[in-house]
Amino acid sequence: MYAIPFLDLPPLHSAQGTVRLPGSKSISNRVLLLAGLSAGTTIVHDLLDSDDTRVMLQALRTLGCGVEQRGAQWHVTGLGGRLAVHEAQLFLGNAGTAMRPLAAALALLTATQGGCFDLAGVSRMHERPIGDLVDALRQYGAQVEDLGQPGYPPLRVSGPAPGGLALERPIRVRGDVSSQFLTALLLSLPLVASERDLVIEVEGELISKPYVEITLNMLARFGVAVRREGYARFTVPRGSRYASPGEVHVEGDASSASYFVALGAIAATDGRRVRIEGVGLESIQGDIAFVDAARAMGAQVEGGPNWLEISRGVWPLRALELDCNAIPDAAMTLAVMGLYANGPTRLTHIASWRVKETDRLAAMASELRKVGAEVDEGPDWLEVRPPAAWRAASWHTYDDHRMAMCGSLAAFNPAAGAAPPVPMRIEDPGCVAKTFPDYFETFLGLVQADAADVPVIAVDGPSASGKGTLAARLAQALGYAQLDSGAIYRAAGVAAERAGVDLDDPRALAQLAASLDLRFEGERILLDGQDVTDAVRSEAAGLLASRVSAVPAVRQALHALQLGFRRPPGLVADGRDMGTVVFPDARLKVFLTASAEQRALRRHKQLISKGIPARIEDLRADLELRDARDRNRSAAPLQPAQDALSLDNSGLGIDESVELVLGWWAQRTPYRA
Ligand code: DC
Repeated sequence: MYAIPFLDLPPLHSAQGTVRLPGSKSISNRVLLLAGLSAGTTIVHDLLDSDDTRVMLQALRTLGCGVEQRGAQWHVTGLGGRLAVHEAQLFLGNAGTAMRPLAAALALLTATQGGCFDLAGVSRMHERPIGDLVDALRQYGAQVEDLGQPGYPPLRVSGPAPGGLALERPIRVRGDVSSQFLTALLLSLPLVASERDLVIEVEGELISKPYVEITLNMLARFGVAVRREGYARFTVPRGSRYASPGEVHVEGDASSASYFVALGAIAATDGRRVRIEGVGLESIQGDIAFVDAARAMGAQVEGGPNWLEISRGVWPLRALELDCNAIPDAAMTLAVMGLYANGPTRLTHIASWRVKETDRLAAMASELRKVGAEVDEGPDWLEVRPPAAWRAASWHTYDDHRMAMCGSLAAFNPAAGAAPPVPMRIEDPGCVAKTFPDYFETFLGLVQADAADVPVIAVDGPSASGKGTLAARLAQALGYAQLDSGAIYRAAGVAAERAGVDLDDPRALAQLAASLDLRFEGERILLDGQDVTDAVRSEAAGLLASRVSAVPAVRQALHALQLGFRRPPGLVADGRDMGTVVFPDARLKVFLTASAEQRALRRHKQLISKGIPARIEDLRADLELRDARDRNRSAAPLQPAQDALSLDNSGLGIDESVELVLGWWAQRTPYRA
C-alpha cells in the first residue's frame, strides 16, 4: 500500500495483464455479520482484507464472537442469536456496511435481551444519514438514541425495551436514501422472527436494488428464505433462524472490477488484453452490470462465470446517457471514462452519490474539471464532456477510495491525443485501503508509458556519500522504484570472482556481464537464483565492482538491464553515471558528496553496527582509491552531470537531505491544485 501524501502517475498509453481481485466488500461484511449471528463456526474464504472488513471483524470480536485467521481463511464462531457481552463501544470507521446492520442487529438484541451499545465512526461517518433506519427500529419499540446530531451516528442502542418489541405491524422503512437501511433490517430481523412473520414495507422507490439482491442471496445461504413482492414488501418468515453454511467463498469485488474493465476499454490496444479473475458474468453483485455500460461505451468484453477479458473496441469511446441507479458505485468509473468519449456522457439518478464516503457528485465534478473536462452537475446527475486541452492535475481524493481509483484512469491522456501528454497526481493514494489496499500496485503492474515520460531522479556521487540511503528515502517518499546501480556492478564483480574469470580479461568480463542472471526482489539480490545480498554488500564486492565497472564492454552489457527499471510511476537511480550516461534525460540530477573523512566515518559506523570489524584509516584509504579509479577511468568516469545540483551532505542529517531534494523535485512538477 502507498502510505504517502501523493502518488504521481506519468502519462500512460497502454495496459495489459491479469488481475486477481480482492473479495467483495458488500459480500464480505454481510457474510461476517451473518456468521457472527449464527450458531457454530463459519469458514470464510477470500474475505476482503480492508479497512471496512477490519472494523467489522473487530466489532465481532468485541461482541464475543470467535474470530480467527488461519492462513487465507477466517473462522468465525457466532453468537447463535444470544448476546455474549451486554455492553460495549464499537468503532466502525467509515464502514456503512458495518454501521447500519450492526445498529439494527444490536437494537433488536438489546431490546429482547437487555444491554447497551454505542456505535460510532470517523467524522465523515457521523455525516452519513441513518435516521430512516433508526425510525424504523423505533416503530418496533427498540430504544435507539442519537448521541450526536439527530439522524446520524453516533448512536446508542439499549434495552430491554419496556413492554417488549411490537412486532405485529409491518415495519416501514424508506428506500430512497440508502438501500443499506433495508439491508440492515433484512439481515437482523431473523433474530426476532421466532414467533411470527415479520413484514418490511419499503417507502419511496428503492435505490441500489442489486445490493438488496446480495442481501437476500446471503440470507438464503445462511438458511433464511425471505419472501418478497418486488422491492416493495419483504417477509421474514416465522421461525427463521440463521444456519451457517459451514463454508463461504467471497466473490471478487465487482465494483473494484470496474476500474480494470475501464482500463481495458481505454488502454488494452493492439492485441493487448486485461484479464480479471475472481469475478465474472455470473456474479451475484449488481455492479457486474457495469460490464454492459462499458460495452455500450465501446469496450470489448468477454467473460465466463468468474473471469472477464477486456480490450479496447471503439475509440474514442462512445458517449453515453445512462440511468445509473442500479450501479451507483461503478457509475463513478463511467464518469471518468467520459474523459475519453466522443461527446457528452450523462449519468442520471445518482443522488445517492451525495451521501457516500464524500459528496461524490461534487467531488467528481471538481476533479474532472481539473484535468480539463467540462462538467455540469445537478442534484442527481452529472454530465462530462472530454477535455479540449488536458491539464496536469492534482486529483484530490476526499478520503474516498473510489475517487482515488477513478483518478488513476485519468492518466491515459496520451491515448486521447493530449499534446503534450500530462502527468496526474493522486492525493492520499492510501485511502484505497477501504476496499482495495493494493490497488495502485496492481494498476501499476498492468500499465505502460513511454520511457521518456517516466520521471527519473538521478543521484550520483562517490562511494559512501549516502546515495543509497538518500535514493531509498526519495523512492519511498514518492512511491517510485529504486535502482541501486552499484549493486549491479557489485553483483557482476561477485559473479566474476565465483566463476573464476580473470579481472584483467575485459572480453571474458563482458561476456559474463552479458549473461548475468540478476534479479532484485525487494531488498534481496538474487544471482542465478541464489541469494547473494550479503556478499554483494560487502567491502570486498565494492572493490571488485570498482574494477569490473571500469571495463567499457561491461558497462555496455549492463546498460539495458538498468534502463528496464524505468517504469511507471517513476525511478530514483543512484550510482556514478545515472545522470550522465544511463538517464541523461533525468528530470532531476543530484550530485551528492561528502568529505572523505565523513564518508569513512559513516561506513565505519555501518560496518560496526553489523558486527563487522573495520578501521577508519583503512576505510578512508579504500574509499580514496576507489574514488580515484572511478574518476579517472575512461568509461563513464565519476563526474557531475552539467545540469546536476550539488549537495554536500557532510554536515546534514538524512532527513534534511531528503527534505532539500524533495523541495527541488517539487519545483519540477507541474500540478494544479
Ligand atoms: O556505489 P557502490 O559502492 O555500490 O558502487 C560500487 C562500484 O560500482 C563503485 O566503485 C563504482 C561502480 N559503479 C559504477 O561504475 N557506476 C555506477 N552507476 C554505480 C557503481
